[in-house]
Formats: sequence, C-alpha cells, structure tokens
Amino acid sequence: MANLNNTTPIDVSNPGEYKTLLGDLQGNIIKSHGRDHSVHLFIQFKADQQKKAKEWIQKFAEKYVTSAILQNAEAIEYQRSKIKGSVFANLCLSIAGYEYLEIPPFQIPHNEAFRMGMKSDSVVGFLGDPAVDTWDYGLQQEIHAFILIADDDIIDLLQEVNRIYTSLLPVGLVVHREDGFVLRNEKKQVIEHFGFADGISQPLFVKRDVDKAKEIDPNFDKWNPLAPLSLVLEKDDNGKTGDSYGSYLVYRKLEQNVKAFHKDQKALADKVGIDNDLAGALIVGRFADGTPVVESGTPTGATSTNNFNYDEDPTEFGLDPKPTKCPFHAHIRKTNPRGDTGRVNNSPDFEQSLKVERSHRIARRAISYGQKEISKEKEPVSGSGLLFLCFQANLENQFNFMQSAWSNPKNFVAVNVGADPVIGQPFPGGGQKWLKKWGDPNTEECPYDFTLWVNMKGGEYFYAPSMSFLKSISEAALPLNKSTSLAFNGSDGYITINADSVFNLTNNFTIEAWFKPNKLSGLQRIFSKLHAYGFGLNGKKLRFTTYDIKDFDTVDIDSLKINEWNHLAVTFNSSNNADFYLNGESVETINDTRSANTSTYPCEIGRKQDNNIEYCDGNILDVRLWNVVRTPAEIKDNMNKLLTGYEDGLIGYWTLNQGTGTVIEDNSANVNNGVIHGDVTWDVT
Ligand code: HEM
Repeated sequence: MANLNNTTPIDVSNPGEYKTLLGDLQGNIIKSHGRDHSVHLFIQFKADQQKKAKEWIQKFAEKYVTSAILQNAEAIEYQRSKIKGSVFANLCLSIAGYEYLEIPPFQIPHNEAFRMGMKSDSVVGFLGDPAVDTWDYGLQQEIHAFILIADDDIIDLLQEVNRIYTSLLPVGLVVHREDGFVLRNEKKQVIEHFGFADGISQPLFVKRDVDKAKEIDPNFDKWNPLAPLSLVLEKDDNGKTGDSYGSYLVYRKLEQNVKAFHKDQKALADKVGIDNDLAGALIVGRFADGTPVVESGTPTGATSTNNFNYDEDPTEFGLDPKPTKCPFHAHIRKTNPRGDTGRVNNSPDFEQSLKVERSHRIARRAISYGQKEISKEKEPVSGSGLLFLCFQANLENQFNFMQSAWSNPKNFVAVNVGADPVIGQPFPGGGQKWLKKWGDPNTEECPYDFTLWVNMKGGEYFYAPSMSFLKSISEAALPLNKSTSLAFNGSDGYITINADSVFNLTNNFTIEAWFKPNKLSGLQRIFSKLHAYGFGLNGKKLRFTTYDIKDFDTVDIDSLKINEWNHLAVTFNSSNNADFYLNGESVETINDTRSANTSTYPCEIGRKQDNNIEYCDGNILDVRLWNVVRTPAEIKDNMNKLLTGYEDGLIGYWTLNQGTGTVIEDNSANVNNGVIHGDVTWDVT
C-alpha cells in the first residue's frame, strides 16, 4: 500500500510505489488539468433506470475519465510532439447519486457533510449560505453526478459535449450546466473577474509542480507549498485495487459583482486616504499582479512569489497585535494564515499549530464564467464570477472549516479583525479596519465595512471515485465496440510500452487482440517483446515466437479474413505448448520443451523491434496480455466484451479505442501506457 504521508513530491513519470494509486485516481485532484475551457454538467438520472445509468457511467469512464497517470503522460507527450491529448474529464457523484445507484450505505463515502449535502439546512446555516430557493434553479434540483469536460480547443470541447448529451438522453437529464474559461490579463496571468492574479498559492503534490515553483522561489524557507497525498485523498471502498482512492470535491458557483466591488474599493481608498491599488491589496492580500502586500506597499510587477509568511507583520504579536502591511482580514491571510494561529495565541508549540493549520489547506481548481472581455466601461454586475472547485480529504476540516471558522467570523485570527472582504459570509458589513500608512508601525486604523460582492448561487459536495470503481460499476461487461481503432500503415507505425517486470513472462500466459489486416502476406507482429516473446501473423498463419528459441507457425487458415476483424489469441502453458485460437475457436496446438526468455526490451504493438521489421498493415484493437492461461471458454466468452481492466490475471490491456492523442492508455491496474510512433492514425467510423 502506498504511503500517503509522503514528505517528498510524487514523480508521476516515475511513480514507483504510487503507480497503481495514480493509475486508479482521477486526474485534476493532485494537479490541475490546466485546460483553458471546461464544461460542467450536473446530471440527474431518470427514475428506475439504475442499470442503464450504471452502464452509462461505466462507458463514460472508459471513454473519457482521465487518470492522474494519463493526465501526466499526455502533458509530457504534448511538450514533445505538440499533438494535444484527448479531452480531459472527471466524473464525481453526490450523496444523492450514490443512493440512487443503490450503493450499500457502508460503501458510500463516509464524510458527514458529504452525506448531508450542501443544500441541507444545517450546512446552509453552518456556512452562512444564502437560502437554497435563491440559488440558480438548476442547482436547486437533486443532482446525482457532476462531470467536468475540459480542452484547450473550444470547438472540440463543444462537439464532445454534444455527443455526451446525446448519449445521456435515455438515462438522465442535464439539470444544470456551466461553461468555464481561463481569464487572463494583458500579461497573460490567470486572473479572476475582480482582476487579481489567481491560482498562485496551492498545496503542491507532484514533482513537476514543485520544480516549476522552484523556478520562482528557489527555496521554500518562508512557506513550504509541499503537501502529502493524505491532504486530498480518502480511500475508495468501492475501488478494485489496494490503492484505490478518491477525493471530496466542493463545487460553488460564486457570482462576482465586479462593478460594485471596484466602486467599493475606490470608496475605501478615498475614505482611508490610500492609493486604489493598495486598497485592493489590503482586501485580497496581494496586488492585482500577485505581489504579496506583506512584501511590498506597491505592485512590483515581478513574478508572483509564494515564499512568504507573516512572521514580521506585526513585528510583535502581543495581546492586541496590529499588522502594518497585510491586515488579518485580507482574503489570503484569512484562508491561509501561514502560522498566524500560533503567533497570535503565542502558542508554546508554534510548529504544532502550523501543522494543524496546514491540514486545513485545499487544492483549488476554480475557473471563471460569464463575461470574457472585461473593460472599465463594461464591468459585469451579475452573470459573471468564479466556478469554485476544490479537492480535499475531509470536508469538515478543510473547505467547511476555512469558510466558517476563518473567512466568515469577524474574530479570526484575533478579536474584531473583521470578515474576509472577498468571501466572508453572511455579514454584509465586514467590520474591517484598514491601515492608513502601509508599513508604518505608528499607522492609524480606519474602520470601513467592505461589502460582500460575491454571491453564492448554488453548489454541492461530490466525491471523485477511483477509476476502477467507475469502470466496473455496472458489474456487467459492456459490448466491445469496433467503431474506433488504430490504423497501422505497414511501414513505420508502432506503439512502444516501457519495459516493466510484469512483462517478464516465460510461460503460462495469454495474448489476445483484434486485427483487421490490409494484407495477408509477410510477417506482421501484433504484440512483441524483443528477445522474449511475440505474437502475430505469418502470411495466412498465426505465428507465436519465443525469440531466439522457436517460431510456432500454424497451418494456413482460410477463415482468416483480409479487411475484416479477426480475433487472434495464443496461450503458452507451463508445458511450453502454444494453443492458437481464431475468433474464439481452437486452431492448433504446437508443442515445445523450452520456455521463453526474459528481456529488458520494451513491448511493442504493431512491429518487431529487431531492425524494425514485421510491421502490421491494418487496424488493431483491444490488445490483452494475461499472466495466466485463459481457457478456450474464457477466450470465446469475453472476446466481444470490453473488460473492466481489473480482471484477475490481466496484466496489460490496451483497448486502442480512445480516438485521439498519442498516449495509449493501459486500462489494467499496471497502467503501462504506450506511446504512438510513426504513421499510426485513429480510425473512427
Ligand atoms: C469569487 C470568489 C473568490 C475570489 C475572487 C478569490 C480570489 C482569490 C485571489 C485573487 C487569490 C490570490 C491568488 C493566490 O494566492 O493564489 C486567492 C487565494 C486564495 N483563495 Fe480565494 N477567491 C475566491 C473564493 C475563495 C473561496 C470560496 C475560498 C475557500 C473558502 C478561497 C480560498 C483561497 C485560498 C486558500 C487562497 C490561497 C491563499 C494562500 O495560500 O496564500 N477563495 N483567492
């Protein structure tokens, strides 16, 4: 079992003990999906359609939901080839969703707030949210599932969304939809609608993010953004592996009255007698360009740092501490006090209070909605804002705590500091006090009630389950669909799959694949591990090879069809006999006394690596590798069914049906994804 209390970031490209976990975990949790556009669909399944709804979820998961490993592999491939990956997708369930799907109560995620739902009176009261009947109508409805689909290309994204709508029609309704986009300023910084740079400070889980952060802050001596996986993951009791995890998702539609916010900011600046930019910084805790106000009284224009804390502001934390640079009420100081709780209470164990404070962190994944062009003349009053999403392991200890114990109260982190002026609910008058002279220890404070200009329009708690749960939820295999496959050109196209010890098979294994050949002459190697074993065609014969030992060729098979789909299988048993099957029927058994060698070469689909020969000319689909000998009945009964990927003995499962991208997903628990090389194209009919 993988250690969730990791002290070093996860290297998703070399995941070691985290491989199963990351292959079974949805993307976007430990690292933002990073696409510029996303569509959020809130789904209610139709009454009494549980079986169909489960099938729909399983199909959706199989086709769209992106694992953490695949998200990383596609990002790396994009850097290399500039060919974009498949659309990104998450699928999450609410408590109403779990209940509708009749998941036994003890297997529903346990968190209490999740089980109550965001619309429950106690949660509304606890968070200080507006009454549910004032929310957007769609968000007032019972919501079973939430799906997020994201892409950089808006046309591709909307086309995919249309397909999803159509597929959903028989089983459910989209009761609410939001379209989000990444808002940027002229300097290309990501901002929110009030105009402030956003998404700078995040808990970081993966090495790539940490390396990037180090380019700006080479050391983390004042603030360490690293976070253990335990901050966001909770075991998924419905998962199929020992390392199946999910995460709680908070969704809130937060409308921003931009015009009124800026007017109030100006009025504040005038009342206190300070510059308008500084007034903004005292509200948020950073200037619009991201400069932390605790570091500078003016925007520096430099890349926004996150290596800061409030140790020196104020210089002394006594009974009534008075910061002179960043007010206690500032949004980022409220939501991440960076040690204030220990400092203000003069805690004897500062490190322990910092640790507790850090356990309240959330992984924010928000995106803007509404008006795309913002100018002084056309500032939105309604209809624009932030689709606030965040992941965490524990709702009470993280989002709910942050909102209700830190942002809302006037008395956090010390008495009468006022509410968070950006999100503090439910007091319209914030009760804040503002500094007249930045950084001056003798500065006076000026009271000004900053109004809350963010209006919560509805939301829900969800759980992002493991991939293995979603892919097996219908408990029945889906039919294999041959409408999408990979076309190999016969001269330079192939797939590589990095060497992994699971591929060290000497006997007792099975290889299967569907092949639609354009020719039935010469050698065509469908699956091959050089100097170990390989399977494919030799003219009209099936060929299995224990490389450097023996070629097993069947007789010519007349029922092997050109330009048609053929299911090919071979088992190699512990007595070193090769049994061949065509379309589920036994063809021939060929004996030997020697088992296959092991080798350190990668596996390849579509050719033999030795001098790059034996290229396949035709379409390949659904390649399966088992470390067991499948029985004739098992081969026949399952060849037309899509596997979940978590069947016993299945050690590699490349369905080759994604339809886009250059990373080939291994749907087995071993997640040995492949990469396309040369002329291999998606054939979608
Ligand atoms: C429309 C609503 C919101 C706006 C306009 C907003 C704006 C911002 C901005 C401009 C930043 C600074 C950028 C950064 O440090 O990453 C920030 C940071 C942050 N916000 Fe918000 N935010 C909103 C809602 C929320 C909510 C609902 C929460 C959680 C209860 C939240 C929690 C945080 C946290 C944790 C940080 C990082 C603080 C740090 O680590 O220094 N925000 N927000």
